[in-house]
Amino acid sequence: MEKKNLDWANIGFGYIETDKRYVSNYKDGAWDEGVLTEDSMVTISECAGVLQYAQTIFEGMKAYTTEDGRIVTFRPDLNAARMEDSAKRMEMPVFPQERFVDAVVQTVAANKAYVPPFGSGATLYLRPYMFGSNPVIGVKPASEYQFRVFATPVGPYFKGGVKPLTICVSDFDRAAPNGTGHIKAGLNYAMSLHAIVSAHNNGFDENMYLDAATKTKVEETGGANFLFVTKDNKVVTPKSGSILPSITRRSLMYVAKEYLGLEVEEREVYLEEVSDFAECGLCGTAAVISPVGKIVDHGKEIYLPSGMSDMGPVTKKLFDTLTGIQMGKIEAPKGWLVEIQ
Ligand code: PLP
Ligand code: COI
Repeated sequence: MEKKNLDWANIGFGYIETDKRYVSNYKDGAWDEGVLTEDSMVTISECAGVLQYAQTIFEGMKAYTTEDGRIVTFRPDLNAARMEDSAKRMEMPVFPQERFVDAVVQTVAANKAYVPPFGSGATLYLRPYMFGSNPVIGVKPASEYQFRVFATPVGPYFKGGVKPLTICVSDFDRAAPNGTGHIKAGLNYAMSLHAIVSAHNNGFDENMYLDAATKTKVEETGGANFLFVTKDNKVVTPKSGSILPSITRRSLMYVAKEYLGLEVEEREVYLEEVSDFAECGLCGTAAVISPVGKIVDHGKEIYLPSGMSDMGPVTKKLFDTLTGIQMGKIEAPKGWLVEIQ
């Protein structure tokens, strides 16, 4: 199979149309068998539930070329399970988990020419999603849905690759207690757009959202969870019912403990204690681990001791080990890599 002629080392995090995508429709209480199609356009009613009341959920995952030339995806079973949680919370039908994994595998297999080569720094981003497609005008769930998976090659999410980021403590709330912060619904991202544009206009790379109820505890950013490292090398991540349970974060906590022998702790993290940490990073499928160098809290600048030029040493070890596992350089825990034939 010949690879597409793309400038792999320099692609950004954007949409590049690939050859095939997976589509399945839900009607009369059942999903159809699903197909791969070359048609990248979606045609739906002007009154579709997704267009009127934002009934849409999605996942984000990647396919990688390993050092020995295999193509793999990373823990797709966890994305399938999380999408089930999202669907239930949004009153949408569940796309069966084994069919979800199969749809992802089919989409990658049909777009192998777009999976960036090993060592290029790029990966194939996969976007499974589902939306209410039939007309809905009274506020209620749709009765027809479409599930799709497309693939697009991507480079680093943050411009500048692994250069430490500057983030600001946001006055906006991302999620309410008992709201939808813990699922991957499009609405969580729509309402974060004003906050991220404001942060960018003020010269920041991202927002640090606090818990909406007390405004004292660290939650997450618009698209990644936080990891902190204490001065005695303990890896700490915020525990909250209103953040997305990041698969990258869960994997990193395992890697920290089982591969690097570090102590790990998932607990409430207060904004007040952030200045005591040695390192900070943002973790997610798109972000991988992006180091944070500075956190600005209403004019008060908190510099992480790891500095503004490089990743901190523990963050770097976590990054190298996780990406080593994903690229087949380090042995993966059983079941973490699913090979695409
Ligand atoms: N938090 C939010 C709000 C996200 O959008 C994402 C991205 O998926 C993450 C965290 C990281 O999750 P994961 O590691 O599963 O990609
Ligand atoms: C991902 O990391 O896959 C996400 O969905 C986050 C998004 C901000 C790109």
